[in-house]
Amino acid sequence: AATLSFPGGAAEFPIRTSVEGNSSIDFSTLTRQTGFTGLDYGFVNTASTQSAITYIDGEQGILRYRGYPIEELAGKSTFLEVAWLLIYGELPTADQLGEFDEKIRHHTLLHEDLKRFFSSLPHTAHPMSVLSSAVSALSTYYEDSSDPHDPDHVELTTVRLLAKLPVIAAYAHKKSIGQAFLYPDNSMNFVDNFLKLNFGNMAEPYTTDPVLSKALDRLLILHEDHEQNASTSTVRLVGSTGANLYASISAGIQALSGPLHGGANEAVLQMLARIRDSGEGVGKFVDRVKRKEDGVKLMGFGHRVYKNYDPRARLVKESADEVLAGLGVNDPLLDLAKELEQIALEDDYFKERRLYPNVDFYTGVIYKAMGFPTRMFTVLFAIGRLPGWMAHWREMNLDPQTKIGRPQQLYIGEAERHYPS
Ligand code: MLT
Repeated sequence: AATLSFPGGAAEFPIRTSVEGNSSIDFSTLTRQTGFTGLDYGFVNTASTQSAITYIDGEQGILRYRGYPIEELAGKSTFLEVAWLLIYGELPTADQLGEFDEKIRHHTLLHEDLKRFFSSLPHTAHPMSVLSSAVSALSTYYEDSSDPHDPDHVELTTVRLLAKLPVIAAYAHKKSIGQAFLYPDNSMNFVDNFLKLNFGNMAEPYTTDPVLSKALDRLLILHEDHEQNASTSTVRLVGSTGANLYASISAGIQALSGPLHGGANEAVLQMLARIRDSGEGVGKFVDRVKRKEDGVKLMGFGHRVYKNYDPRARLVKESADEVLAGLGVNDPLLDLAKELEQIALEDDYFKERRLYPNVDFYTGVIYKAMGFPTRMFTVLFAIGRLPGWMAHWREMNLDPQTKIGRPQQLYIGEAERHYPS
Protein backbone atom coordinates (compact mmCIF):
# COMPACT_ATOMS: atom_id res chain seq x y z
CA ALA A 1 0.00 0.00 0.00
CA ALA A 2 1.03 3.61 -0.46
CA THR A 3 -0.26 6.84 1.06
CA LEU A 4 -1.85 9.47 -1.14
CA SER A 5 -2.54 12.88 0.31
CA PHE A 6 -5.11 15.19 -1.13
CA PRO A 7 -6.87 18.34 0.05
CA GLY A 8 -8.86 17.35 3.10
CA GLY A 9 -6.95 14.23 4.00
CA ALA A 10 -4.75 11.31 3.20
CA ALA A 11 -5.54 7.68 2.52
CA GLU A 12 -3.78 4.37 2.20
CA PHE A 13 -4.52 2.70 -1.07
CA PRO A 14 -3.58 -0.58 -2.66
CA ILE A 15 -0.96 -1.13 -5.32
CA ARG A 16 -1.81 -3.70 -7.97
CA THR A 17 0.99 -5.87 -9.36
CA SER A 18 0.50 -7.37 -12.81
CA VAL A 19 1.71 -10.81 -13.87
CA GLU A 20 4.75 -9.16 -15.49
CA GLY A 21 5.58 -7.63 -12.10
CA ASN A 22 4.57 -4.05 -13.04
CA SER A 23 2.84 -2.24 -10.24
CA SER A 24 0.22 0.44 -10.48
CA ILE A 25 -2.19 2.23 -8.22
CA ASP A 26 -5.49 0.38 -7.81
CA PHE A 27 -7.67 3.43 -8.35
CA SER A 28 -10.97 1.53 -8.44
CA THR A 29 -10.47 0.26 -4.90
CA LEU A 30 -9.23 3.68 -3.84
CA THR A 31 -12.38 5.32 -5.16
CA ARG A 32 -14.59 2.79 -3.40
CA GLN A 33 -12.77 3.19 -0.08
CA THR A 34 -12.31 6.95 0.03
CA GLY A 35 -14.73 8.52 -2.39
CA PHE A 36 -11.69 10.27 -3.92
CA THR A 37 -12.29 10.71 -7.63
CA GLY A 38 -9.63 13.13 -8.71
CA LEU A 39 -12.01 16.08 -8.40
CA ASP A 40 -10.03 17.18 -5.36
CA TYR A 41 -7.10 17.83 -7.65
CA GLY A 42 -9.25 19.76 -10.06
CA PHE A 43 -9.64 17.18 -12.78
CA VAL A 44 -12.06 14.39 -13.45
CA ASN A 45 -10.85 10.85 -13.55
CA THR A 46 -13.08 7.92 -14.36
CA ALA A 47 -10.80 5.84 -12.13
CA SER A 48 -11.32 2.76 -14.24
CA THR A 49 -8.78 2.72 -17.08
CA GLN A 50 -6.40 -0.20 -16.90
CA SER A 51 -3.28 0.00 -19.01
CA ALA A 52 0.07 -1.79 -19.23
CA ILE A 53 1.81 0.90 -21.29
CA THR A 54 3.18 3.69 -19.10
CA TYR A 55 3.91 3.83 -15.40
CA ILE A 56 4.21 7.17 -13.61
CA ASP A 57 5.04 7.75 -9.97
CA GLY A 58 4.51 11.48 -9.60
CA GLU A 59 5.69 11.53 -5.98
CA GLN A 60 9.09 10.08 -6.89
CA GLY A 61 9.33 11.61 -10.37
CA ILE A 62 9.46 8.23 -12.12
CA LEU A 63 8.33 7.56 -15.69
CA ARG A 64 8.62 4.19 -17.42
CA TYR A 65 7.40 2.96 -20.79
CA ARG A 66 6.52 -0.75 -20.62
CA GLY A 67 8.70 -0.93 -17.51
CA TYR A 68 11.81 0.72 -19.04
CA PRO A 69 12.94 3.98 -17.39
CA ILE A 70 12.56 6.99 -19.68
CA GLU A 71 16.17 8.01 -18.98
CA GLU A 72 17.51 4.73 -20.46
CA LEU A 73 15.23 4.85 -23.49
CA ALA A 74 16.15 8.47 -24.19
CA GLY A 75 19.84 7.56 -23.98
CA LYS A 76 19.90 4.27 -25.86
CA SER A 77 16.94 4.00 -28.25
CA THR A 78 15.56 5.77 -31.27
CA PHE A 79 12.08 7.23 -31.63
CA LEU A 80 10.90 4.38 -33.87
CA GLU A 81 12.33 1.76 -31.52
CA VAL A 82 10.38 3.27 -28.62
CA ALA A 83 7.30 3.55 -30.84
CA TRP A 84 7.52 -0.20 -31.44
CA LEU A 85 7.97 -0.80 -27.71
CA LEU A 86 4.88 1.24 -26.84
CA ILE A 87 2.73 -0.26 -29.56
CA TYR A 88 3.80 -3.92 -29.36
CA GLY A 89 5.01 -4.16 -25.75
CA GLU A 90 8.63 -5.29 -26.36
CA LEU A 91 11.81 -3.68 -27.63
CA PRO A 92 12.11 -4.71 -31.30
CA THR A 93 14.84 -6.98 -32.65
CA ALA A 94 17.07 -5.44 -35.34
CA ASP A 95 15.02 -7.24 -38.03
CA GLN A 96 11.68 -6.11 -36.61
CA LEU A 97 12.89 -2.52 -36.41
CA GLY A 98 14.32 -2.64 -39.95
CA GLU A 99 11.06 -3.97 -41.35
CA PHE A 100 9.01 -1.38 -39.43
CA ASP A 101 11.24 1.44 -40.66
CA GLU A 102 10.98 0.18 -44.27
CA LYS A 103 7.18 0.04 -44.12
CA ILE A 104 7.02 3.58 -42.74
CA ARG A 105 9.32 4.89 -45.50
CA HIS A 106 7.08 3.18 -48.06
CA HIS A 107 3.97 5.08 -46.90
CA THR A 108 5.23 8.66 -46.52
CA LEU A 109 3.65 10.08 -49.69
CA LEU A 110 0.35 11.93 -49.37
CA HIS A 111 -2.29 11.68 -52.06
CA GLU A 112 -1.72 14.53 -54.54
CA ASP A 113 -5.32 15.69 -54.06
CA LEU A 114 -4.50 16.54 -50.47
CA LYS A 115 -2.41 19.44 -51.77
CA ARG A 116 -5.67 21.13 -52.78
CA PHE A 117 -6.98 20.45 -49.30
CA PHE A 118 -4.02 22.37 -47.83
CA SER A 119 -4.38 25.22 -50.30
CA SER A 120 -8.07 25.61 -49.39
CA LEU A 121 -7.11 26.58 -45.81
CA PRO A 122 -6.05 30.13 -44.90
CA HIS A 123 -2.27 30.60 -44.56
CA THR A 124 -2.94 32.07 -41.09
CA ALA A 125 -4.39 28.74 -39.89
CA HIS A 126 -2.73 27.38 -36.76
CA PRO A 127 -0.62 24.34 -37.78
CA MET A 128 -2.36 22.24 -35.09
CA SER A 129 -5.74 22.87 -36.74
CA VAL A 130 -4.25 22.02 -40.13
CA LEU A 131 -2.73 18.83 -38.68
CA SER A 132 -5.94 17.66 -37.08
CA SER A 133 -8.06 18.47 -40.16
CA ALA A 134 -5.68 16.69 -42.54
CA VAL A 135 -5.52 13.58 -40.32
CA SER A 136 -9.29 13.53 -40.26
CA ALA A 137 -9.29 13.89 -44.05
CA LEU A 138 -6.98 10.85 -44.37
CA SER A 139 -9.86 8.57 -43.43
CA THR A 140 -11.70 9.72 -46.56
CA TYR A 141 -8.81 8.36 -48.68
CA TYR A 142 -8.52 5.07 -46.82
CA GLU A 143 -12.13 4.26 -45.97
CA ASP A 144 -11.80 0.74 -47.35
CA SER A 145 -8.81 -0.07 -45.12
CA SER A 146 -9.56 1.59 -41.81
CA ASP A 147 -11.94 -0.86 -40.15
CA PRO A 148 -11.10 -0.59 -36.43
CA HIS A 149 -12.00 -4.24 -35.89
CA ASP A 150 -9.79 -5.65 -38.64
CA PRO A 151 -6.25 -6.25 -37.27
CA ASP A 152 -4.68 -5.92 -40.77
CA HIS A 153 -6.38 -2.57 -41.28
CA VAL A 154 -5.22 -1.43 -37.85
CA GLU A 155 -1.60 -2.42 -38.71
CA LEU A 156 -1.73 -0.57 -42.01
CA THR A 157 -3.29 2.52 -40.44
CA THR A 158 -0.68 2.51 -37.66
CA VAL A 159 2.12 2.56 -40.24
CA ARG A 160 0.36 5.10 -42.46
CA LEU A 161 -0.13 7.51 -39.59
CA LEU A 162 3.50 7.24 -38.48
CA ALA A 163 4.61 7.82 -42.06
CA LYS A 164 2.24 10.62 -42.98
CA LEU A 165 1.87 12.71 -39.82
CA PRO A 166 5.38 14.24 -40.13
CA VAL A 167 4.73 15.05 -43.79
CA ILE A 168 1.41 16.74 -42.96
CA ALA A 169 3.14 18.60 -40.12
CA ALA A 170 5.87 19.87 -42.44
CA TYR A 171 3.27 20.93 -45.02
CA ALA A 172 1.41 22.86 -42.31
CA HIS A 173 4.70 24.61 -41.51
CA LYS A 174 5.58 25.36 -45.16
CA LYS A 175 2.07 26.64 -45.79
CA SER A 176 2.26 29.00 -42.81
CA ILE A 177 5.45 30.58 -44.21
CA GLY A 178 4.36 30.53 -47.84
CA GLN A 179 6.97 28.03 -49.09
CA ALA A 180 6.60 25.15 -51.56
CA PHE A 181 5.95 21.66 -50.20
CA LEU A 182 8.81 19.20 -50.63
CA TYR A 183 8.37 15.49 -51.30
CA PRO A 184 9.62 13.12 -48.61
CA ASP A 185 13.10 11.69 -49.20
CA ASN A 186 12.73 8.05 -48.28
CA SER A 187 16.46 7.40 -48.35
CA MET A 188 16.56 9.33 -45.08
CA ASN A 189 15.68 8.18 -41.58
CA PHE A 190 12.47 9.34 -39.88
CA VAL A 191 13.87 12.42 -38.17
CA ASP A 192 16.18 13.61 -40.99
CA ASN A 193 13.39 13.22 -43.52
CA PHE A 194 11.17 15.38 -41.32
CA LEU A 195 13.85 18.03 -40.85
CA LYS A 196 14.48 18.16 -44.60
CA LEU A 197 10.74 18.51 -45.30
CA ASN A 198 10.72 21.53 -42.98
CA PHE A 199 14.05 23.16 -43.71
CA GLY A 200 15.03 21.95 -47.16
CA ASN A 201 14.11 24.12 -50.11
CA MET A 202 13.90 23.54 -53.84
CA ALA A 203 17.00 25.56 -54.67
CA GLU A 204 19.73 24.05 -52.51
CA PRO A 205 20.73 20.51 -51.53
CA TYR A 206 19.89 19.76 -47.91
CA THR A 207 22.63 18.76 -45.46
CA THR A 208 21.72 16.80 -42.38
CA ASP A 209 22.87 18.06 -39.00
CA PRO A 210 23.62 15.28 -36.47
CA VAL A 211 23.15 17.59 -33.47
CA LEU A 212 19.66 18.51 -34.59
CA SER A 213 18.71 14.95 -35.57
CA LYS A 214 19.85 13.45 -32.27
CA ALA A 215 18.16 16.15 -30.21
CA LEU A 216 14.87 15.96 -32.08
CA ASP A 217 14.81 12.16 -31.91
CA ARG A 218 15.34 12.39 -28.15
CA LEU A 219 12.65 15.02 -27.69
CA LEU A 220 10.19 12.89 -29.63
CA ILE A 221 10.98 9.92 -27.35
CA LEU A 222 10.37 12.05 -24.26
CA HIS A 223 6.92 12.97 -25.58
CA GLU A 224 5.85 9.49 -26.72
CA ASP A 225 3.43 8.68 -23.94
CA HIS A 226 2.18 9.98 -20.62
CA GLU A 227 -0.72 7.69 -19.69
CA GLN A 228 -4.24 9.07 -19.20
CA ASN A 229 -3.72 12.77 -19.98
CA ALA A 230 -6.40 14.81 -21.75
CA SER A 231 -5.42 13.89 -25.31
CA THR A 232 -4.79 10.19 -24.67
CA SER A 233 -8.05 9.74 -22.84
CA THR A 234 -9.73 11.59 -25.73
CA VAL A 235 -8.20 9.14 -28.20
CA ARG A 236 -9.40 6.23 -26.07
CA LEU A 237 -12.87 7.67 -25.61
CA VAL A 238 -13.37 8.42 -29.30
CA GLY A 239 -11.87 5.03 -30.21
CA SER A 240 -14.16 3.24 -27.76
CA THR A 241 -17.15 4.24 -29.90
CA GLY A 242 -15.81 2.20 -32.82
CA ALA A 243 -14.47 5.28 -34.63
CA ASN A 244 -11.37 4.53 -36.72
CA LEU A 245 -7.79 5.45 -35.83
CA TYR A 246 -7.70 8.54 -38.07
CA ALA A 247 -10.78 10.00 -36.38
CA SER A 248 -9.48 9.16 -32.91
CA ILE A 249 -6.00 10.62 -33.53
CA SER A 250 -7.48 13.74 -35.09
CA ALA A 251 -9.53 14.26 -31.90
CA GLY A 252 -6.41 13.67 -29.79
CA ILE A 253 -4.55 16.37 -31.73
CA GLN A 254 -7.35 18.85 -31.00
CA ALA A 255 -7.23 17.99 -27.30
CA LEU A 256 -3.45 18.46 -27.27
CA SER A 257 -3.68 21.88 -28.90
CA GLY A 258 -4.97 23.68 -25.77
CA PRO A 259 -2.55 25.84 -23.74
CA LEU A 260 -3.22 23.78 -20.62
CA HIS A 261 -1.97 20.67 -22.46
CA GLY A 262 0.50 20.53 -25.38
CA GLY A 263 -0.03 24.18 -26.27
CA ALA A 264 1.88 25.06 -23.11
CA ASN A 265 5.29 24.80 -24.86
CA GLU A 266 4.21 27.64 -27.15
CA ALA A 267 2.87 29.62 -24.18
CA VAL A 268 6.18 29.24 -22.28
CA LEU A 269 8.16 30.85 -25.06
CA GLN A 270 5.64 33.68 -25.35
CA MET A 271 5.92 34.22 -21.58
CA LEU A 272 9.74 34.29 -21.70
CA ALA A 273 9.68 36.75 -24.60
CA ARG A 274 7.26 38.99 -22.67
CA ILE A 275 9.55 38.98 -19.61
CA ARG A 276 12.52 39.86 -21.83
CA ASP A 277 10.66 42.63 -23.67
CA SER A 278 9.19 44.16 -20.51
CA GLY A 279 12.63 44.50 -18.95
CA GLU A 280 11.02 44.01 -15.51
CA GLY A 281 13.32 41.15 -14.51
CA VAL A 282 12.47 37.62 -13.43
CA GLY A 283 12.13 38.42 -9.72
CA LYS A 284 9.39 40.99 -10.34
CA PHE A 285 7.61 38.63 -12.71
CA VAL A 286 7.64 35.89 -10.05
CA ASP A 287 6.20 38.33 -7.50
CA ARG A 288 3.37 39.13 -9.88
CA VAL A 289 2.70 35.39 -10.33
CA LYS A 290 2.53 34.98 -6.56
CA ARG A 291 0.15 37.91 -6.23
CA LYS A 292 -2.00 36.16 -8.87
CA GLU A 293 -2.18 39.31 -10.96
CA ASP A 294 -4.71 39.11 -13.75
CA GLY A 295 -3.34 37.33 -16.81
CA VAL A 296 0.06 36.63 -15.18
CA LYS A 297 0.73 32.90 -15.11
CA LEU A 298 3.89 30.90 -14.78
CA MET A 299 3.57 28.62 -17.80
CA GLY A 300 5.44 25.30 -17.99
CA PHE A 301 5.49 24.85 -14.23
CA GLY A 302 3.57 22.31 -12.18
CA HIS A 303 1.84 19.14 -13.25
CA ARG A 304 -1.32 17.34 -12.19
CA VAL A 305 0.66 14.19 -11.53
CA TYR A 306 4.24 15.24 -10.73
CA LYS A 307 4.76 16.51 -7.22
CA ASN A 308 8.47 16.14 -7.84
CA TYR A 309 10.74 17.17 -10.73
CA ASP A 310 9.30 15.88 -14.02
CA PRO A 311 11.98 13.43 -15.25
CA ARG A 312 11.35 14.58 -18.82
CA ALA A 313 12.01 18.21 -17.91
CA ARG A 314 15.44 17.28 -16.53
CA LEU A 315 16.35 15.56 -19.83
CA VAL A 316 14.92 18.37 -21.95
CA LYS A 317 16.99 20.88 -19.97
CA GLU A 318 20.14 18.84 -20.71
CA SER A 319 19.19 18.75 -24.39
CA ALA A 320 18.65 22.51 -24.42
CA ASP A 321 22.25 23.05 -23.28
CA GLU A 322 23.60 20.47 -25.77
CA VAL A 323 21.65 21.78 -28.75
CA LEU A 324 22.37 25.44 -28.20
CA ALA A 325 26.07 24.71 -27.63
CA GLY A 326 26.14 22.34 -30.65
CA LEU A 327 24.56 24.93 -32.90
CA GLY A 328 26.66 27.73 -31.43
CA VAL A 329 23.47 29.61 -30.46
CA ASN A 330 23.27 31.84 -27.41
CA ASP A 331 19.62 32.47 -26.58
CA PRO A 332 18.90 34.88 -23.72
CA LEU A 333 15.52 33.15 -23.34
CA LEU A 334 17.32 30.01 -22.12
CA ASP A 335 19.16 32.09 -19.50
CA LEU A 336 15.84 33.64 -18.48
CA ALA A 337 14.23 30.20 -18.19
CA LYS A 338 17.05 28.95 -15.97
CA GLU A 339 16.89 32.04 -13.78
CA LEU A 340 13.15 31.63 -13.47
CA GLU A 341 13.54 27.99 -12.49
CA GLN A 342 16.17 28.78 -9.88
CA ILE A 343 14.17 31.58 -8.27
CA ALA A 344 11.00 29.49 -8.25
CA LEU A 345 12.65 26.38 -6.82
CA GLU A 346 14.10 28.37 -3.92
CA ASP A 347 10.86 30.20 -3.14
CA ASP A 348 8.58 28.82 -0.40
CA TYR A 349 5.49 29.69 -2.44
CA PHE A 350 6.50 27.22 -5.16
CA LYS A 351 8.08 24.73 -2.75
CA GLU A 352 4.89 24.47 -0.67
CA ARG A 353 2.82 23.96 -3.79
CA ARG A 354 5.37 21.47 -5.13
CA LEU A 355 5.60 23.27 -8.44
CA TYR A 356 8.50 22.16 -10.67
CA PRO A 357 9.30 22.76 -14.33
CA ASN A 358 7.36 20.37 -16.54
CA VAL A 359 8.11 18.91 -19.97
CA ASP A 360 7.00 22.09 -21.72
CA PHE A 361 9.35 24.44 -19.88
CA TYR A 362 12.54 24.05 -21.95
CA THR A 363 11.29 22.44 -25.18
CA GLY A 364 10.38 25.71 -26.90
CA VAL A 365 13.89 27.09 -26.51
CA ILE A 366 15.26 24.04 -28.35
CA TYR A 367 12.66 24.09 -31.12
CA LYS A 368 13.34 27.80 -31.62
CA ALA A 369 17.08 27.14 -31.93
CA MET A 370 16.31 24.45 -34.52
CA GLY A 371 14.43 27.06 -36.57
CA PHE A 372 10.81 26.05 -35.93
CA PRO A 373 8.32 28.92 -35.58
CA THR A 374 6.53 29.04 -32.22
CA ARG A 375 3.25 27.82 -33.69
CA MET A 376 4.93 24.55 -34.73
CA PHE A 377 5.98 23.59 -31.19
CA THR A 378 2.79 21.75 -30.28
CA VAL A 379 2.83 20.03 -33.66
CA LEU A 380 6.19 18.52 -32.68
CA PHE A 381 4.61 17.34 -29.43
CA ALA A 382 1.85 15.67 -31.49
CA ILE A 383 4.35 13.79 -33.68
CA GLY A 384 6.08 12.56 -30.54
CA ARG A 385 2.80 11.56 -28.88
CA LEU A 386 1.41 9.65 -31.87
CA PRO A 387 2.85 6.21 -30.90
CA GLY A 388 1.47 6.56 -27.36
CA TRP A 389 -1.98 7.49 -28.63
CA MET A 390 -1.98 4.54 -31.01
CA ALA A 391 -0.69 2.16 -28.35
CA HIS A 392 -3.59 3.17 -26.07
CA TRP A 393 -6.15 2.97 -28.87
CA ARG A 394 -4.91 -0.51 -29.81
CA GLU A 395 -4.64 -1.76 -26.23
CA MET A 396 -8.27 -0.82 -25.74
CA ASN A 397 -9.73 -1.68 -29.14
CA LEU A 398 -8.02 -4.98 -29.81
CA ASP A 399 -9.42 -6.23 -26.50
CA PRO A 400 -12.75 -7.95 -27.26
CA GLN A 401 -14.04 -7.01 -23.77
CA THR A 402 -13.85 -3.28 -24.53
CA LYS A 403 -16.98 -1.28 -23.94
CA ILE A 404 -17.84 2.23 -25.01
CA GLY A 405 -16.34 4.80 -22.65
CA ARG A 406 -18.52 6.96 -20.47
CA PRO A 407 -16.92 9.28 -17.94
CA GLN A 408 -18.49 9.12 -14.52
CA GLN A 409 -20.56 12.17 -13.60
CA LEU A 410 -21.31 13.49 -10.14
CA TYR A 411 -24.61 15.30 -10.45
CA ILE A 412 -24.56 18.51 -8.39
CA GLY A 413 -27.71 20.23 -9.64
CA GLU A 414 -31.24 20.54 -8.29
CA ALA A 415 -32.87 17.20 -7.35
CA GLU A 416 -36.28 17.86 -8.84
CA ARG A 417 -38.05 21.09 -9.75
CA HIS A 418 -41.65 21.75 -10.65
CA TYR A 419 -42.41 23.65 -13.80
CA PRO A 420 -44.04 27.00 -12.85
CA SER A 421 -47.81 26.72 -13.38
C1 MLT B 1 1.71 15.13 -21.17
O1 MLT B 1 2.84 14.72 -21.43
O2 MLT B 1 0.70 14.69 -21.75
C2 MLT B 1 1.55 16.25 -20.19
O3 MLT B 1 2.54 16.23 -19.21
C3 MLT B 1 0.16 16.35 -19.63
C4 MLT B 1 -0.27 15.24 -18.72
O4 MLT B 1 0.32 14.19 -18.67
O5 MLT B 1 -1.27 15.43 -18.01
